[in-house]
Amino acid sequence: MGFMKNPFKKPEQQQSSGQGFAGSQNPAMPTPNAPNGASHSLPRPNPIGPFHIPSTHLQMPVPMPTRAQTLPGDRQLAVTDPLPKPAGYDAPSDMPVVKFMVGVDFGTTFSGFAVFRVPDEQRSKNKRVWVPRGDANTQIIGNEDWVDRPHNMHSHKLPTVIAYPNGVRSSLHECKWGWSATRYDKSMAPVHRIKLALEATTPEVMRPDVPAGMKPVDIISDYLACLRQEMMRFIESRYPVDVNLSADDLLICMTVPVGWSSQAHHTIRRAATNAGLISNENSRHLLFCYEPEAAALACVHESRFPISDSPRVLIVDCGGGTVDLFLARLDKGGDLEELTLGTGNFAGATSVDAQFKVFLRKKLGLRGYNDFKDKLASRFTVLEQEWEAQKRTFSGTQEWLLRLPAQLMKFLPKEKQEEFADLEILVTAADMKSFFDPVIDEIIGLICDQLWQARRIGGANDSEKVKYLYLVGGFGSNRYLQDRINANSAVLQIVGSVVSLQRPEAAVVRGAVWFCINNQSIRMRRARQTIGIGVQREFDPRRDHRSEITSYDPVDPSRAFVPKAVLCFMSKGQLVSYNASFTRTGFKVLRNMQAPVKVLVYVSDRIPPAAEGRAASVEHPNRLDIADCTLLGTITIELPNLPLGSDHTTFSIEICHGRVELSVRIIDEKTRDEWTQFLNHGSFRVQTNLPAVAA
Ligand SMILES: Nc1ncnc2c1ncn2[C@@H]1O[C@H](COP(=O)(O)OP(=O)(O)OP(=O)(O)O)[C@@H](O)[C@H]1O
Ligand SMILES: [Mg+2]
Repeated sequence: MGFMKNPFKKPEQQQSSGQGFAGSQNPAMPTPNAPNGASHSLPRPNPIGPFHIPSTHLQMPVPMPTRAQTLPGDRQLAVTDPLPKPAGYDAPSDMPVVKFMVGVDFGTTFSGFAVFRVPDEQRSKNKRVWVPRGDANTQIIGNEDWVDRPHNMHSHKLPTVIAYPNGVRSSLHECKWGWSATRYDKSMAPVHRIKLALEATTPEVMRPDVPAGMKPVDIISDYLACLRQEMMRFIESRYPVDVNLSADDLLICMTVPVGWSSQAHHTIRRAATNAGLISNENSRHLLFCYEPEAAALACVHESRFPISDSPRVLIVDCGGGTVDLFLARLDKGGDLEELTLGTGNFAGATSVDAQFKVFLRKKLGLRGYNDFKDKLASRFTVLEQEWEAQKRTFSGTQEWLLRLPAQLMKFLPKEKQEEFADLEILVTAADMKSFFDPVIDEIIGLICDQLWQARRIGGANDSEKVKYLYLVGGFGSNRYLQDRINANSAVLQIVGSVVSLQRPEAAVVRGAVWFCINNQSIRMRRARQTIGIGVQREFDPRRDHRSEITSYDPVDPSRAFVPKAVLCFMSKGQLVSYNASFTRTGFKVLRNMQAPVKVLVYVSDRIPPAAEGRAASVEHPNRLDIADCTLLGTITIELPNLPLGSDHTTFSIEICHGRVELSVRIIDEKTRDEWTQFLNHGSFRVQTNLPAVAA
């Protein structure tokens, strides 16, 4: 992935949301003031002088190798709280001008898309797209008539399954996907739940089987390519005036689980590019939105009752693989502010399926069960479909007779043959509840945790209830789940009412379209991780080895520095506005410096002392130890070799984290050249366009 030069300049208002960082002072090397106006009154910027640049191991900002009273690193940094109404909030959209806005929900078990056609008169630059309230259903549409769908299945989503002929990756027209891939076909090898391969934290038992020779990114690319074909067919059939659409005619919002790593976002970006959904990996035509946030937008816009009085709302997205929570306040303008860091876990409907299979295994014995699955695979598929139907309609009282195929008898031991001589297993309502209950208990536990967390933040006297608890997601539409949550006394103590939408399973995908229409309506969210850049700290013989020293203070050479600290730009749990940017200015590089300059961006689940209210107790309250952080990516700035004494080049570095992805912008303060990169993962090289020097 290459670094893009000037791919998009943000509107002036968005350059700082009032949360800027400013560099620390070096009296020896005055540099220009911050360009964005945020830092004028703050100390002057950080120089990166040749006097302490240790070949390739330079980190920015480098601590001040100056007199003792001028402390290195972040001592003089100022962090201001986000403004309640951040700059740029009412600014025109910074989104590309497109003909269609598309939500894509790539789910663990079911996926789909929803589409909004931007009206002709609104297809102009900087114009915010506007959809009248109450008119959403006619304007945001999704396919419900999927090929091979069972007759009773009407949904914007279809199974996230792709089947390859004989398990070999082949051209798309030889593959089957969606409902067609769920039909038994001996020659096809279906891949299920591939999304769960993207996250390292997925429990081992839930990990999908990836066919030999294929990588998860290939399978996801293939599935998304099939989905894209269907999407284009759908758009062109519904809107014949808009033909020959290219990737840049669409703005796509893909939803992602809250807990995903940046690496997983990066993989999805790559897969979306391979699938032709976007034209290149760095495309601005792909946005990410957290799944429960998208669901929240659908709830706000598509509720069947008016919402007033700026209530607290809790969205519980119960999907196939995971359940995710989002607790927010809905302000008078209809925007959402996240109140606590959302949580989630793997208590999705797949866990109910797993409980049912454990039951079946116990009934038939391990060998009988395995033979049923492997040797009578087509009949087993029928049983799975029957189970799916029973699960979906279960409301707490139904029992059903599970019919076994006669051929199974020859695989069962004698005592089981006698037990199941009439080829039936009665699955009682109590059995059914036993499949659901452990999963629902976990969901209730998560809900209560989230609600108590909100109370803690609100303080001891906080008795405000969460006015609406929205249950969404496919599993969220289950009647038994809804009734159990509705009847739980702990939940009812803190929740006004438990509600749902007309199409709970489509909340995420429709919300993704709402996010395209106005991604500013998630006004504030909590940072999922602490983010910072590598800096140097003073050598400490008790913790460091001399070989780790990379620079010395030129004024006081007895002071040595090691690159083992991370200066935090933002802290996990901190409120971040939708367009938050964190800027440090004045990174100075002398032109006779030969080594490339490296900016190392780190993430961590730890919170720096300043954010924990312990600023006074430590010397560097905004720092973490590098051992507690993970390297997210490296930006290398290549500089031409200029003669000693040439002018300095000064850069600003801005980290934007208002949306899901982190983007890093580096600005040459003199020429105003800038480079922007989504920094999901990995390393990027920046070739500056400073003039090369003739030999
Ligand atoms: N009425 C219902 N009762 C119980 N389970 C249901 C019902 N309807 C759908 N499901 C289950 O919900 C899941 C699909 O829901 P959804 O589409 O929200 O999940 P997903 O997006 O695939 O998963 P995730 O969000 O975890 O990635 C499937 O496991 C399906 O069996
Ligand atoms: Mg989902």
